Amino acid sequence: MSNDKLFVFDTTLRDGEQSPGASMTRDEKLRIAKSLENMKVDIIEAGFPIASEDDFQAVKLVAEQVQDSTICVLSRALDKDIARAGEAIKPANSGRIHTFIATSPIHMEKKLRMSPDDVLAQAVHAVQYAGKFTDNIEFSPEDAGRSDFDFLCRVLEAVIDAGAGTVNIPDTVGYNLPDQFGSLIGRLIETIPNSDKAIFSVHCHNDLGLAVANSLSAVQYGARQVECTINGLGERAGNAALEEVVMAIRTRRDKFECDVTLDATQIVGCSKLVSSITGFPVQRNKAIVGVNAFAHESGIHQDGILKNRETYEIMRAQDVGWSNNQMVLGKHSGRNAFRSHLEEIGVTFSSEEELNNAFYRFKDLADKKHEIYDEDLQALVNDSASTVQDSIRLVTLQTCTGTGEKPKATVTLSVESEEKTQVSDGAGSVDAVFKAIECIVDSGCELELYSVSNVTTGTDSQGEVTVRIRKGDHRVNGQGTDTDIIMASAKAYVNALNKILMPVAKKHPQKAV
Ligand code: KIV
Ligand code: ZN
Repeated sequence: MSNDKLFVFDTTLRDGEQSPGASMTRDEKLRIAKSLENMKVDIIEAGFPIASEDDFQAVKLVAEQVQDSTICVLSRALDKDIARAGEAIKPANSGRIHTFIATSPIHMEKKLRMSPDDVLAQAVHAVQYAGKFTDNIEFSPEDAGRSDFDFLCRVLEAVIDAGAGTVNIPDTVGYNLPDQFGSLIGRLIETIPNSDKAIFSVHCHNDLGLAVANSLSAVQYGARQVECTINGLGERAGNAALEEVVMAIRTRRDKFECDVTLDATQIVGCSKLVSSITGFPVQRNKAIVGVNAFAHESGIHQDGILKNRETYEIMRAQDVGWSNNQMVLGKHSGRNAFRSHLEEIGVTFSSEEELNNAFYRFKDLADKKHEIYDEDLQALVNDSASTVQDSIRLVTLQTCTGTGEKPKATVTLSVESEEKTQVSDGAGSVDAVFKAIECIVDSGCELELYSVSNVTTGTDSQGEVTVRIRKGDHRVNGQGTDTDIIMASAKAYVNALNKILMPVAKKHPQKAV
């Protein structure tokens, strides 16, 4: 059996960000990119630079700071998109331009209003033009899963000739079935005369819940790059989940003629980071990264596991980064122990200031909570606590509640360095706190999501709060973590308000060219 490399291409920062409500700030994108780099993801699709100045700057930042993974950017098959993409990846150690145009009859006729010959010519031109900026070019025939086979072959042969080193076959609307999609890839590789000059990649959407199955089938038929996202985030029902694709390949090596070179022990940490930043919770029974993925409830199963783990487990929880619930650090741990333990679980700091800030919050937490677990540390670094640049800062917070009394909150904020205090009541303490904050800031935002989850077990656990607020079309998520969930809620709301002060307009990459 040959043992080819299977390239893992993560598009959490691009397709994942297209999930409604999952937008991320520049710094959040960088944190996720660093975590993906730590995991040894081969290619990170960092964004769609033409969409907005903010996306452009985010990609540039990622390209400057990430050394080990290739940084890819998306562009329509248009010169202005490609030139912007080329500019964004300039600082990258290794950069790639990914250009696309739709090839299905419905997209060409109804969306692009172009003839197949014009689409083919534009695809070839785009790849040639991208060659002015990099020799690492990927081309995608959008909606390939519903495209005419012969036309697809003509387009792919032509773009490979024009210099595309990777050709990606998207099932854009998640319409295909596993055997159909796998054999499509096999037939393309067999039919296209220059197919040996390019890596065949797949990009599957999950509209029928088949994204991972379709991707794996394609790998069995010869695909050597899979595009996927952490937690399966992405447009509509999402993309193929990275963690599921990777662990299926690792666990069933007997069924694949290739392997990944990824560090799977970083998966759980990265999943938590993405969930916390986007406000998309991971379903408890989600494969690999759900909290129940390795929990055995029934007596028969527990008995079996105790006798021989393999009776009911096909993977080891620690191989994907679940910790074994050991207390890892305490009140007396120093900065070096803190830094080196975080490195072990895949967290690095981009500056001493960032480390100091996190260490200060760790000490604060250790005063309240004696046993600190890996989960606590992950939550602590995921919590984008207020920074000096924030114009709104939480100064103090008191709440008062009791049987038969309306909950009341007194909040003091520093807004542009001026302290303001407000007292409000509400249906509950959180409601009262948010009303008091709104009375001070008067942001006019609408609260779209409020969710709380516990970081560890026990009543001294930290609560992790995510809020999503909207102003017009602009949505942001805010996070806050604290052993007191009212405080965590206030931090999350203030965090979201600080982000929404920087509105950005985005174009959608798959909108008509
Ligand atoms: O789903 C899709 O077709 C895409 C392409 C831009 C690759 O995301
Ligand atoms: Zn997609």
